[in-house]
Amino acid sequence: MTVTSSGPLLRIDDLRIDFATEHGWANVVNGVSFDVAENEIVGLVGESGSGKTVTSLSILGLIPNPPGRKSGGHIWYRDKDLTDLPKKELRDIRGNEISMIFQEPMTSLNPAFTIGDQIAEVYRRHRGGGKKAALARAAEMLDLVGIPNANKRVKDYPHEFSGGMRQRAMIAMALVCDPKLLIADEPTTALDVTVQAQILELLSKVREEMGTGIIFITHDLGVVAELCDKVVVMYAGEVVETAVGRDLFVQPKHPYTEGLLTAMPQLGERNEQLASIPGRTPEPWAMPDGCRFNPRCKYTEDVCRSAMIPLEVLNDGRSSRCVRIDELKLEGAK
Ligand SMILES: Nc1ncnc2c1ncn2[C@@H]1O[C@H](COP(=O)(O)OP(=O)(O)OP(=O)(O)O)[C@@H](O)[C@H]1O
Ligand code: SF4
Ligand SMILES: [Mg+2]
Repeated sequence: MTVTSSGPLLRIDDLRIDFATEHGWANVVNGVSFDVAENEIVGLVGESGSGKTVTSLSILGLIPNPPGRKSGGHIWYRDKDLTDLPKKELRDIRGNEISMIFQEPMTSLNPAFTIGDQIAEVYRRHRGGGKKAALARAAEMLDLVGIPNANKRVKDYPHEFSGGMRQRAMIAMALVCDPKLLIADEPTTALDVTVQAQILELLSKVREEMGTGIIFITHDLGVVAELCDKVVVMYAGEVVETAVGRDLFVQPKHPYTEGLLTAMPQLGERNEQLASIPGRTPEPWAMPDGCRFNPRCKYTEDVCRSAMIPLEVLNDGRSSRCVRIDELKLEGAK
């Protein structure tokens, strides 16, 4: 079943998040904007520290305050601004309409309760009903994510599951209420290649059958090419490029993306670590003036170091934050 709708499911609009540090307020998400439609998988990529997790935690109102604060922007979920919603309403949406597979699943399962009870609890909190029915639903979900003998394993404690199985249990928990939007933060990084492929297939199936919008955060550009309808590339807290389909891989529109693509192995090969570009992402309290990528960019000129560079909308659903993009001929994936 394909679900259609006039507006996007989620619209992140000019989001700014800062953290208090010993160096003062550090801006870690700077004017981030992108949309997720129903039935759409959006890949969010960028090196470690680029702000992917902070952006996604903001959607669910999970940025700890202090030390974090939102210093600007809105996050629209249909017609509701999630950044301005009473806590109770946000709690009702979280885990129900919008759910998240967290980057560190081991810390999200409680060792004192069975896997089944933890999944059932999420279901009952949002959907009500008896414990028995919720446990049956938990077993059904474990089966869906490929846990063998799910009816029996639903009674296991987290320590009785392997790392890969715990990851699947977290995915089952995130899907138990049929969310409209799923945020998957590196959901397959800890898994071996076969299990990874099964999880990716599962997410595709979930989108196809339920029209779920998915934000898929990953270091693996090969997975993005395979799975995602749209790609959002982040660098140092900013969106530097967006593209639809495979366009980004054929012809990147930002030198940072070119760096990622030219350093990666052949498209289609697994690439757990993001390809490395010489230099390092700047610390959030020491961002360079002008383009945040300028100290690492091989095309830097004086113009790149002065004014802030806006994200420019180009043709065909693409955008780029590079002042020289019209003159550059960038290389795509091999
Ligand atoms: N609780 C916090 N307190 C202070 N700084 C934080 C906190 N959480 C995140 N940051 C900072 O925000 C920036 C963005 O972090 P974030 O976790 O979003 O990166 P990421 O893109 O998800 O990286 P990774 O690929 O390693 O998961 C980093 O500089 C990080 O140090
Ligand atoms: S604005 Fe300048 S420094 Fe930044 S990516 Fe473009 S060419 Fe490189
Ligand atoms: Mg992260």
